[in-house]
Amino acid sequence: KRVVVFISGGGSNMLALVRACAAPDFPAEIVGVISDKADAGGIAKAEALGIATFTFVRKDFDSKEAHEAAIFAALDTLSPDILCLAGYMRLLTATFINRYEGRMINIHPSLLPLFAGLHTHQRAIDAGVRVAGCTVHFVTEGMDEGPIIAQAVVPVLPTDSADTLAARVLTVEHKTYPLALKLLAEGKVSMRDGRAVFTGPVA
Ligand code: GRF
Repeated sequence: KRVVVFISGGGSNMLALVRACAAPDFPAEIVGVISDKADAGGIAKAEALGIATFTFVRKDFDSKEAHEAAIFAALDTLSPDILCLAGYMRLLTATFINRYEGRMINIHPSLLPLFAGLHTHQRAIDAGVRVAGCTVHFVTEGMDEGPIIAQAVVPVLPTDSADTLAARVLTVEHKTYPLALKLLAEGKVSMRDGRAVFTGPVA
């Protein structure tokens, strides 16, 4: 399966996906990385790995629709089967989501439905929860609320700051995202009537 990864920042999740796809028996290959920030650290990392990169800066376009039209043109040349949002900090229009729903996934640094939105680690600490983690889900129109494909849990320690908790969650993000992509690429999970449906033996 052909995969395009969307980033806005450092791209550590993109790198984890690139590393996973490098395994000969992994059922997906990264064919491009798209960013909305020219200085996204992940762009330099992807280029160093010889992966095609594309940057579309929102302010260079008159509208959200024009911005997305440029992205669609790049996607048409890449012919992706699957889109992976990985630290992509933009909300997509309904047009975008309708075009890729069921084959577009996102990683969110909390155990959804808890802590959708931003600042998830500080909110977890403030709420006094004793576990945190990440969620890989299908992207739907609502932000961070699509059907869940995979989750992973880490402890929240009494000494944690948002940064120490973020670092611990990132370690399981880097394992969970490749696992979820594998399930989707192998057809072991799909989205049907707004729900994640699992077929075949799933770990
Ligand atoms: C990760 O915590 C991810 O869950 C969230 O933003 C962060 C992106 O990190 N969406 P990176 O760019 O993948 O390193």
